[in-house]
Amino acid sequence: MKRVLSGMQASGKLHIGNLVGALANWVKLQDQYDCYYFVADWHALTTGYAKAEDIKASTEDILLNFLAAGLDPGECTIFLQSRILQHSELHLMLSMITPLGWLERVPSYKEKKENLDDCDLSMYGFLGYPVLQSADILIYKADYVPVGIDQVPHLEITREIARRFNHLYGEIFPEPDALLTDFPKVTGTDGRKMSKSYDNAVYLSDDPKSAEQKLRTMMTDPARIRRTDKGDPAKCPVFDLHKVFSTEQERAWATEGCTTAGIGCIDCKKVLIAHVMEIMEPIWEKRQMLKQNPGILNDAVDKGVAKATEVCETTMQEVRKHMGF
Ligand code: TRP
Ligand code: SF4
Repeated sequence: MKRVLSGMQASGKLHIGNLVGALANWVKLQDQYDCYYFVADWHALTTGYAKAEDIKASTEDILLNFLAAGLDPGECTIFLQSRILQHSELHLMLSMITPLGWLERVPSYKEKKENLDDCDLSMYGFLGYPVLQSADILIYKADYVPVGIDQVPHLEITREIARRFNHLYGEIFPEPDALLTDFPKVTGTDGRKMSKSYDNAVYLSDDPKSAEQKLRTMMTDPARIRRTDKGDPAKCPVFDLHKVFSTEQERAWATEGCTTAGIGCIDCKKVLIAHVMEIMEPIWEKRQMLKQNPGILNDAVDKGVAKATEVCETTMQEVRKHMGF
């Protein structure tokens, strides 16, 4: 069975954009592949080193959501990056053979470094972000890495590092391929991209009532002020969410009703809310159950860590031998 690996950085709570963009896809993959899914808590240090103690809460939220959204510890391996020290050992080895130029060329590097003003990113660890990610991937000899389009440059570096390692020390690492999840960026309640930094997200940890409230009060086409004004779905963030959650028929109904002022925005939002609730309610209930029974999550992670450690140690023995240690 081909091996799939992916991780989520522990810097904030998961929102419905993370669910439809990544997690729901991971759930689908778990019965087709040998899947490894983890929380990248060390990666959260690259931008959160000054508040390292916050990483724990994000990590716990993400792990809870992994199980609540349907990852099954019987089907896939779930773990925490920081519990597998072999990741850091391979990261060190790879850092010795990764040219600075490759890292400085990554598009997200310069952009983030210049734009994140509340954090000084002129750090060694931030530059090395893709090296740690490469170690995460290569140590499992993963065939496929499900990621969004923004992660493709990181995958490209991973392949280059694998090639360079194999050339220097002997063939150990297969070159992984990205499994692109082509999902539209999910729009937030204010019309910008849904993101924890904009305070416009519906979180998986929101109770259904407050999630509903966020959607009910979310921004619409700004030109549609009164019920009798005609609107333009193309200018409406609610309609962006209809594209993700509603059926084609419902979109046709909303478009017709909006452009003729046949329906009000509340009617339009109700349909969207019903869909989002249908997805969120079972997740929310499972979260409550898991919170009351912490043993379930702890056992799942312990089991995942044990299995992942075995795979990583096998790879590292090979790596050490090839490098002469
Ligand atoms: N960079 C990924 C993100 O921002 C997280 C990540 C860390 C990852 N290591 C990985 C993803 C390995 C896939 C494979 O979400
Ligand atoms: Fe947006 Fe729907 Fe209102 Fe039109 S009717 S402006 S699509 S919420």
